[in-house]
Amino acid sequence: MKVLCVVGARPNFVKMAPIIREIESRPGEIESLLVHTGQHYDEQMAGSFFRDLKLRPPEIDLGIGSGSHTEQVARIMLAFEPVMLSFRPDWLLVVGDVNSTLASTLVAVRLGIRIAHVEAGLRSGDRGMPEEINRVLTDQMADLLLTPSEDADNNLLRAGIAAERIVRVGNVMIDSLYTHLPVAESSTIRERLNLQRGNYGVLTLHRPVNVDDRHQLEGLLQTMGEIASRLSVVFPVHPRTRERIDRWGLVMPPGLCLIDPQPYPDFLRLWSGARLVCTDSGGLQEETSALGIPCLTLRETTERPVTIELGTNHLVGTGRSRIIDTVDQILAAPWRPPDVWPPNPGIPLWDGRTAARIVDALLEHHVSERRD
Ligand code: UD1
Repeated sequence: MKVLCVVGARPNFVKMAPIIREIESRPGEIESLLVHTGQHYDEQMAGSFFRDLKLRPPEIDLGIGSGSHTEQVARIMLAFEPVMLSFRPDWLLVVGDVNSTLASTLVAVRLGIRIAHVEAGLRSGDRGMPEEINRVLTDQMADLLLTPSEDADNNLLRAGIAAERIVRVGNVMIDSLYTHLPVAESSTIRERLNLQRGNYGVLTLHRPVNVDDRHQLEGLLQTMGEIASRLSVVFPVHPRTRERIDRWGLVMPPGLCLIDPQPYPDFLRLWSGARLVCTDSGGLQEETSALGIPCLTLRETTERPVTIELGTNHLVGTGRSRIIDTVDQILAAPWRPPDVWPPNPGIPLWDGRTAARIVDALLEHHVSERRD
């Protein structure tokens, strides 16, 4: 069986690494080709992730780089089609909801190549998010929908997708989390930043809706400054956000410590030792939930409702009072160390073994569809 695996942006590397490792652990069963679109390309957003996650260098790098969504999708499609035509895989395997996911899926569907989508079925209901459009379209084109949770299955069924095409496999990002937790212990990031475990906050912000509007970004940073007056807050700054801060000459409140985007193990050690995490990321809502670390999601919607049901994640929006009230509640409770192991029983199949279930599903559906 031949599988063409596509990665493009930072969260894709975290999701694909365990899958590639699983494929490589079954020699003779699967031939894989790893294609990197180059949507993220620099050392901080891509290079260090390949090395730290032990993801083999891609056989093909399309070198697409940055651009508008239309440019990115169009350039990936043009560069990707010849790769598909020459490798002729049995499966295109895509992860997540980034532009690279959608663009490669669009090429495969036209060529009649079967598509497996990892992290299928997530919905925020907010069509203003580029990722939501990418999710809806990718799921409609995919032949095999590999979901992380029950809500995702239900979203797909409601969208009219046949139940036989849906396989719940769990959350593959959590495979990477459990693999790298012990490795991350050797990171010295907390010592370098002079932070004590359980005594600081972590902030990440990169959604266009939060950082592309000056007023919105300034308001959020002001609220974060209030939090930072009570406990120091470390803010690894995504390049999109850094560009806006520099362009508008925004002055940072005291106590907010801006650092560069971090390699995977350093960032893991940073957030896993935090008292609380404030973020607009998708993956971090899940990762903090897996370890039981309080997370404030600075958005109006989430495509990860299981994290809210668990009680670890709080959907607080971006207004000051809800954020501050929630921080007050969290700080009023005693700090407890993260639930490093065993996996949280509240989220079935987020157990570090999702990659194996993904590869099993690919093989099973390959064989059964041949029989038909
Ligand atoms: C993309 C994904 C988003 C994901 C995020 C993770 C889409 C629609 N968005 O958003 O879902 O959560 O990645 O980071 O696919 N840049 C660099 N170095 C790089 C790559 C980008 O400096 O290696 C800068 C460029 O200035 C670029 C900006 O970051 O314009 C944004 O990159 P882009 O790929 O357009 O989107 P993200 O905001 O990273």
